[in-house]
Amino acid sequence: MTAVLQAERLTKQFAKDDSAIVALRDFALSVEEGSFVTVLGRSGCGKSTMLNLLAGLTEPTEGTVSHRGKPLTGPDIDIGYLTQSDTLMPWRDVQRNVEMPLEIRGGVRAKERRRTAAALLNRVGLDGFGKHYPRELSGGMRRRASLARMLAGSPSTLLMDEPFGALDAQLRTELQEELLRLWQGSGQTVVFVTHDIEEALLLGDRIVVLGALGRIVADERITLQRPRHVDALRVDPEFVRLHTTMAAALKEGSS
Ligand SMILES: Nc1ncnc2c1ncn2[C@@H]1O[C@H](COP(=O)(O)OP(=O)(O)OP(=O)(O)O)[C@@H](O)[C@H]1O
Ligand SMILES: [Mg+2]
Repeated sequence: MTAVLQAERLTKQFAKDDSAIVALRDFALSVEEGSFVTVLGRSGCGKSTMLNLLAGLTEPTEGTVSHRGKPLTGPDIDIGYLTQSDTLMPWRDVQRNVEMPLEIRGGVRAKERRRTAAALLNRVGLDGFGKHYPRELSGGMRRRASLARMLAGSPSTLLMDEPFGALDAQLRTELQEELLRLWQGSGQTVVFVTHDIEEALLLGDRIVVLGALGRIVADERITLQRPRHVDALRVDPEFVRLHTTMAAALKEGSS
C-alpha cells in the first residue's frame, strides 16, 4: 500500500487563558493512495482539528503529517480543502472564486480558467450564477461554489469537512453522486468528514470512527459494491451490519 497521507502521534492543544484544551491526542492515520476514507464522529471530537492538521493549516503540538512521503509544513496546492465554514472571497464573484486555485497554480490562461470554472459550476448546478457574489447566494449554493473551487485546482488529495451537511436531502444525494462520478477513475485520494453514518457508508471505501479527542474506535473497509444507491443499500445485509457496528462505535466513542 502506498500511503499518500500519513499522520503520526498527532496531538493538538489550544491555549485558553491559563489552561490548555486538548482537541486531538496521539492520533495516527495512514491513507492509501486513491482511496475514499470517510471519518465519522460526534460534534467536538476533533474532526475539523484533524483535517486542519492534514491540510497543513495548523501546526501540531506534537507529531507529524506527511503528504506523499514529505513532511507537511504548510498548505500545499496539491491538497484541496473544503472547510466546514465558508471561505469564499466576498469581493470576488463566484466565477472568480472558482478560478482561484488555477490562478495560484499559475500557467493557465484566463480563457482556460474561465472555461474550467464554468464547467465546474455546471456540474454543481450553479449555471448562470458565475457573476453573483457569495453574499447573493444561499448557504447551500455557497457550499456548492466552494466545492467547485476546491475541484478547480485538480488537487491529488481532497479533504472535505461535512460538505453536504446543510443541504436539502435531494440536493445532497445529487452532489454525493456527482462527487463519486468525479472521483471514480480520477486516482484522487479523499478524506471526507461527516456525522452521518449512512453518508459515510454510501461514499467510502473505508470508514474511520472517532471518539473523544480523536481516538479511533472503529476502522473498517467498506466492500459494498459500487455504484451504490441509498434505497438499495438500506436493505443490503452488509450495509445493515456496518450501520449497526458504526452506530455502536459512535456510542462507545462518546462515552
Ligand atoms: N481554535 C481553537 N481554540 C480552542 N479550542 C478549539 C479550537 N478549535 C477547536 N477547539 C476545541 O477542540 C475540540 C474539537 O473541535 P473540532 O472543531 O475539531 O471538533 P469537530 O469534531 O470538528 O466538531 P463538529 O462536528 O461540531 O464540527 C473542541 O472541544 C473545541 O472546543
Ligand atoms: Mg468540525
